[in-house]
Amino acid sequence: MVVQRTLVIIKPDGVSRGLIGEIISRIERKGLRIVALKMMKLSVKDAEEIYAVHRGKFFFKELIEFMTSGPIVAMIVEGDEAVKVMRIMVGSTDGRVASPGTIRGDYALSPSQNVVHASDSLEAAEREIGVLFREDEICS
Ligand code: CMP
Repeated sequence: MVVQRTLVIIKPDGVSRGLIGEIISRIERKGLRIVALKMMKLSVKDAEEIYAVHRGKFFFKELIEFMTSGPIVAMIVEGDEAVKVMRIMVGSTDGRVASPGTIRGDYALSPSQNVVHASDSLEAAEREIGVLFREDEICS
Protein backbone atom coordinates (compact mmCIF):
# COMPACT_ATOMS: atom_id res chain seq x y z
CA MET A 1 0.00 0.00 0.00
CA VAL A 2 1.32 3.44 -0.97
CA VAL A 3 -0.50 6.09 1.06
CA GLN A 4 -0.43 9.44 -0.71
CA ARG A 5 -1.99 12.87 -0.27
CA THR A 6 -3.41 14.89 -3.13
CA LEU A 7 -5.04 18.30 -3.49
CA VAL A 8 -8.63 18.41 -4.71
CA ILE A 9 -10.40 21.68 -5.49
CA ILE A 10 -14.12 22.02 -6.12
CA LYS A 11 -14.01 24.91 -8.59
CA PRO A 12 -16.32 27.98 -8.56
CA ASP A 13 -18.74 26.29 -10.99
CA GLY A 14 -18.97 23.19 -8.78
CA VAL A 15 -19.66 25.32 -5.70
CA SER A 16 -22.24 27.59 -7.40
CA ARG A 17 -24.05 24.58 -8.87
CA GLY A 18 -24.43 22.98 -5.45
CA LEU A 19 -22.15 20.01 -6.12
CA ILE A 20 -20.00 20.19 -2.95
CA GLY A 21 -21.88 17.41 -1.18
CA GLU A 22 -22.00 15.17 -4.24
CA ILE A 23 -18.25 15.42 -4.85
CA ILE A 24 -17.27 14.94 -1.21
CA SER A 25 -19.64 12.00 -1.01
CA ARG A 26 -18.02 10.30 -4.02
CA ILE A 27 -14.56 10.75 -2.50
CA GLU A 28 -15.65 9.29 0.84
CA ARG A 29 -17.59 6.41 -0.70
CA LYS A 30 -14.48 5.45 -2.67
CA GLY A 31 -12.70 4.93 0.66
CA LEU A 32 -10.41 7.95 0.48
CA ARG A 33 -10.05 10.13 3.56
CA ILE A 34 -10.39 13.91 3.72
CA VAL A 35 -7.66 15.15 6.09
CA ALA A 36 -8.10 18.91 5.53
CA LEU A 37 -10.89 21.00 4.03
CA LYS A 38 -11.76 24.67 3.64
CA MET A 39 -14.02 26.94 1.65
CA MET A 40 -12.23 30.04 0.46
CA LYS A 41 -11.77 32.55 -2.33
CA LEU A 42 -8.52 31.97 -4.17
CA SER A 43 -6.25 34.99 -4.54
CA VAL A 44 -4.80 35.66 -7.99
CA LYS A 45 -1.34 34.96 -6.52
CA ASP A 46 -2.33 31.51 -5.18
CA ALA A 47 -4.22 30.60 -8.36
CA GLU A 48 -1.19 31.54 -10.47
CA GLU A 49 1.04 29.47 -8.20
CA ILE A 50 -1.19 26.40 -8.34
CA TYR A 51 -1.39 26.63 -12.12
CA ALA A 52 2.21 27.80 -12.66
CA VAL A 53 2.89 25.02 -15.22
CA HIS A 54 0.19 26.51 -17.47
CA ARG A 55 1.64 30.04 -17.47
CA GLY A 56 1.99 31.23 -21.08
CA LYS A 57 -0.71 28.92 -22.46
CA PHE A 58 -3.61 30.50 -24.36
CA PHE A 59 -6.11 29.62 -21.62
CA PHE A 60 -4.03 30.81 -18.63
CA LYS A 61 -5.68 34.22 -18.20
CA GLU A 62 -9.19 32.76 -18.52
CA LEU A 63 -8.24 30.00 -16.08
CA ILE A 64 -7.03 32.44 -13.41
CA GLU A 65 -10.10 34.67 -13.88
CA PHE A 66 -12.38 31.64 -13.55
CA MET A 67 -10.63 30.18 -10.51
CA THR A 68 -10.78 33.51 -8.66
CA SER A 69 -14.36 34.34 -9.71
CA GLY A 70 -16.08 32.81 -6.67
CA PRO A 71 -15.62 30.54 -3.68
CA ILE A 72 -13.89 27.20 -4.03
CA VAL A 73 -13.60 24.23 -1.68
CA ALA A 74 -10.03 22.98 -1.23
CA MET A 75 -9.28 19.66 0.39
CA ILE A 76 -6.45 17.26 1.00
CA VAL A 77 -7.44 13.71 0.15
CA GLU A 78 -5.45 10.79 1.53
CA GLY A 79 -5.35 7.10 0.71
CA ASP A 80 -3.69 4.28 -1.21
CA GLU A 81 -2.39 5.75 -4.51
CA ALA A 82 -4.60 8.81 -3.86
CA VAL A 83 -3.07 10.88 -6.70
CA LYS A 84 -3.88 8.33 -9.41
CA VAL A 85 -7.20 7.27 -7.89
CA MET A 86 -8.48 10.88 -7.73
CA ARG A 87 -7.38 11.58 -11.31
CA ILE A 88 -9.34 8.54 -12.50
CA MET A 89 -12.40 9.63 -10.50
CA VAL A 90 -12.16 13.20 -11.89
CA GLY A 91 -11.90 12.12 -15.56
CA SER A 92 -10.53 13.87 -18.65
CA THR A 93 -10.02 17.64 -18.60
CA ASP A 94 -12.63 18.34 -21.27
CA GLY A 95 -16.02 17.66 -19.72
CA ARG A 96 -17.53 17.14 -23.17
CA VAL A 97 -15.55 13.93 -23.68
CA ALA A 98 -14.91 12.80 -20.09
CA SER A 99 -16.25 9.30 -19.48
CA PRO A 100 -19.63 8.86 -17.80
CA GLY A 101 -19.11 7.76 -14.21
CA THR A 102 -16.30 10.26 -13.68
CA ILE A 103 -17.04 13.56 -11.93
CA ARG A 104 -16.43 15.61 -15.07
CA GLY A 105 -18.16 13.04 -17.26
CA ASP A 106 -21.26 13.32 -15.13
CA TYR A 107 -21.26 17.06 -14.34
CA ALA A 108 -19.20 19.07 -16.87
CA LEU A 109 -19.77 20.10 -20.47
CA SER A 110 -16.81 22.44 -20.90
CA PRO A 111 -13.02 22.17 -21.41
CA SER A 112 -12.39 24.90 -18.84
CA GLN A 113 -15.29 25.05 -16.37
CA ASN A 114 -14.87 21.44 -15.36
CA VAL A 115 -16.09 21.36 -11.73
CA VAL A 116 -13.03 19.92 -10.05
CA HIS A 117 -9.22 19.92 -9.97
CA ALA A 118 -6.97 17.11 -8.74
CA SER A 119 -3.15 17.19 -8.68
CA ASP A 120 -1.61 15.28 -11.59
CA SER A 121 1.49 13.91 -9.81
CA LEU A 122 2.84 13.41 -6.31
CA GLU A 123 5.28 16.30 -6.81
CA ALA A 124 2.45 18.60 -7.97
CA ALA A 125 0.31 17.47 -5.02
CA GLU A 126 3.00 18.37 -2.48
CA ARG A 127 3.58 21.74 -4.11
CA GLU A 128 -0.13 22.60 -4.48
CA ILE A 129 -0.95 21.49 -0.92
CA GLY A 130 1.84 23.79 0.27
CA VAL A 131 0.23 26.75 -1.49
CA LEU A 132 -3.15 26.35 0.24
CA PHE A 133 -2.58 24.59 3.57
CA ARG A 134 -0.35 25.05 6.59
CA GLU A 135 0.90 21.91 8.32
CA ASP A 136 -1.29 22.62 11.40
CA GLU A 137 -4.44 22.61 9.24
CA ILE A 138 -3.92 18.93 8.30
CA CYS A 139 -5.59 16.31 10.51
CA SER A 140 -3.71 13.04 10.25
P1 CMP B 1 -7.38 21.43 -14.26
O1 CMP B 1 -7.35 19.95 -14.25
O2 CMP B 1 -7.75 22.16 -13.04
O3 CMP B 1 -5.93 21.92 -14.74
C1 CMP B 1 -5.71 22.96 -15.67
C2 CMP B 1 -6.97 23.66 -16.04
O4 CMP B 1 -6.86 24.51 -17.16
C3 CMP B 1 -7.99 22.61 -16.48
O5 CMP B 1 -8.43 21.86 -15.39
C4 CMP B 1 -9.03 23.49 -17.15
O6 CMP B 1 -9.86 24.15 -16.20
C5 CMP B 1 -8.12 24.52 -17.82
N1 CMP B 1 -7.90 24.16 -19.24
C6 CMP B 1 -7.15 23.14 -19.70
N2 CMP B 1 -7.19 23.08 -21.04
C7 CMP B 1 -7.99 24.10 -21.42
C8 CMP B 1 -8.44 24.57 -22.68
N3 CMP B 1 -8.08 23.97 -23.83
N4 CMP B 1 -9.24 25.65 -22.71
C9 CMP B 1 -9.60 26.26 -21.56
N5 CMP B 1 -9.21 25.86 -20.32
C10 CMP B 1 -8.43 24.79 -20.27
